[in-house]
Amino acid sequence: MKVLVTGGAGYIGSHTVRELINSGHRVTVIDDLSKGHALAVDPRATLFRGSTGDSALLRRCLDAEQIEAVLHFAANIEVSESVLDPVRYYRNNFANTLSLLGAMVSAGVKRFVFSSTAAVYGNPVETPIDELHPSQPISPYGRSKMMAELAIKDVCHAHGLSATILRYFNVAGAGPDGSIGEDHHPESHLIPRILRAARDVTDIQIFGTDYDTPDGTCIRDYVHVVDLAHAHVLALEKLKEGSCQVLNIGSETGFSVREVITACEQVVGTKLGVIEGHRRDGDPAILVASSRRIREDLGWRARYPEIRTIVQHAWHWHSTHPLGFRGKINPSVEAHSSTLEI
Ligand code: UFG
Repeated sequence: MKVLVTGGAGYIGSHTVRELINSGHRVTVIDDLSKGHALAVDPRATLFRGSTGDSALLRRCLDAEQIEAVLHFAANIEVSESVLDPVRYYRNNFANTLSLLGAMVSAGVKRFVFSSTAAVYGNPVETPIDELHPSQPISPYGRSKMMAELAIKDVCHAHGLSATILRYFNVAGAGPDGSIGEDHHPESHLIPRILRAARDVTDIQIFGTDYDTPDGTCIRDYVHVVDLAHAHVLALEKLKEGSCQVLNIGSETGFSVREVITACEQVVGTKLGVIEGHRRDGDPAILVASSRRIREDLGWRARYPEIRTIVQHAWHWHSTHPLGFRGKINPSVEAHSSTLEI
């Protein structure tokens, strides 16, 4: 299939681009490179630099590349930033999704896979969280994604779009070959922050040790980024005509912050300095997915279910790329930067 991937230079987008191409799809990427990295994009893809809010660029891509399906990753993803700058989140995550949907309707593109988040659920009232759990997001980030979900459902109904909305829990890890991985600025996620602390011989701070959990720290459900990328390929290939489906994706197993630190220490082989700090605003105590539906509907299975493997792959990336994509450069990817279409 000819597929447009927005945000294909980002962490999850770039892993998905690679999986799509390895599965035989032809991929065009739109990314404004505000957070993503051209060097993360598989050299077999065509990269256009620009925003999903740019209707002319969207038209050009959808028509000229004869796009048959869109996977939409481009978004802002920081919960705390969304509280400080909600307009940016509603514009990029909601309004730009509307622009994209409008362009798809005009171009007659009927297949859509959307990156959503566990943040649409808000504070869980029960765990594990399944797709019927109430959606009461507590941040502009979560609300902007929920609004986009609502718009997608309406476009499915009105225009015969087929869509799958994937709600991610905690994503981590890196390509097992170590050539692409997580490179966020700033980095807020637990595993890369622990691994950077290990690499730079600094301390890691735990945000809250007084939660109602067995060891007092928050519990999260980690899924390997390659397994998540694979879920997108399955979602695309198994789209049901005219349907709009919502699927959680997680591992169904929770790890506390302390357990994740221990797993990282075992992989890295050093003991870390740990600071027990205050709670971070907006962190629910436990977020664990029920992923029964994605297993049944898509036949999805994690290839890398072990937290140790997730951390090993992440460590391979972080230890060989101390400056992320600005540092060590994969020669095949470097050659690709000349193919950038702007
Ligand atoms: N944490 C620390 N120290 C750190 C970083 C994180 O203790 O230096 C803790 C957090 O407080 C939290 C846990 O580690 O308890 C995981 O934090 P992350 O930032 O890695 O991930 P979140 O669970 O906050 O974020 C995930 C997704 C978001 C989504 C959110 C929904 O990455 O996109 O869940 O709540 F919005």
